[in-house]
Amino acid sequence: MTGRKQSTRAPHKLALYRRAVQHPEAEASFLYRTYRHYNRNTPPLLLREDFAGTAAVASAWVGMDDEHQAMAVDSHGPTTRWAQREINKQLGDRANDLHIVQADVLDVTGPRVDLSCALNFSTFIYHDRAGLKQYFKSARRGLRPDGLLVIDAYGGPGAMQTGIQSRTVSPETELDPGHEPCPRLPGFLYEWEQRHFDPITHHTECRIHFDLDSGKRIDSAFIYRWRLWTLPELVELMLEAGFKTAQAWCDTYDPKAETSDGVYRPIKKMPARADWIAYIIGVK
Ligand SMILES: C[S@@+](CC[C@H](N)C(=O)[O-])C[C@H]1O[C@@H](n2cnc3c(N)ncnc32)[C@H](O)[C@@H]1O
Repeated sequence: MTGRKQSTRAPHKLALYRRAVQHPEAEASFLYRTYRHYNRNTPPLLLREDFAGTAAVASAWVGMDDEHQAMAVDSHGPTTRWAQREINKQLGDRANDLHIVQADVLDVTGPRVDLSCALNFSTFIYHDRAGLKQYFKSARRGLRPDGLLVIDAYGGPGAMQTGIQSRTVSPETELDPGHEPCPRLPGFLYEWEQRHFDPITHHTECRIHFDLDSGKRIDSAFIYRWRLWTLPELVELMLEAGFKTAQAWCDTYDPKAETSDGVYRPIKKMPARADWIAYIIGVK
């Protein structure tokens, strides 16, 4: 028999999250590319992933190059323990090159790194300027000279609406020792719900739900109570926190075809769009 039997246990919600939401290899390549954009002559080696969750980006970073090392920080114990088990499986004897730390990001002061990232809108957990500025200052202190902080943000009128968007996620397969594809994760439906948005405070509540092919539903698997920060606010706060430059990067959208080229680059102007995702990159 070549195919391994699929587990009858429901997949872990973090495995579903990683499959539905994250593109770790693409993120790791993007981080490398942005670093080289600002520092042409030196390759980055050490990455810190803040609010790391699955630590998937840090893992992809280590997997990208034998010399790469990473630290992944998350305050939630069950999440860091799940991430550690996955990292051991994924990275094998390279797992020692990824250090997972269970802590508040503000409490981790070293070692200094070439690149820090806080992705999937993690900086939106801060609801006031003082809190977010404190995080930016602390992230900046944790960088080596010319190091970068990379965060992302979403926005546009669509981000200020309530509603649910869903999409089908195909099964994930891996090759078994006989090189036969065998199922790792079954297919499922991913739902992103914007449940509340308050135009006065920009406080928003978003939830992730999963509907599994087995008929099981994981309702409110993740709940986020965020502040929807705007790009000028994020750029201004990074500069106030001491970054030499803070620049938005975005893809190019074709309004006629309603498609984007998916290539993120530094931009000075962005045409109005119903929904967008951007990176903001602070250089120490
Ligand atoms: C939106 S998830 C992002 C996960 C991951 N970065 C990604 O790209 O998908 C936010 C994560 O931040 C963690 N978190 C929230 N507040 C934190 C804090 N103050 N310090 C460290 N981790 C925190 C949560 O446990 C959660 O895993």
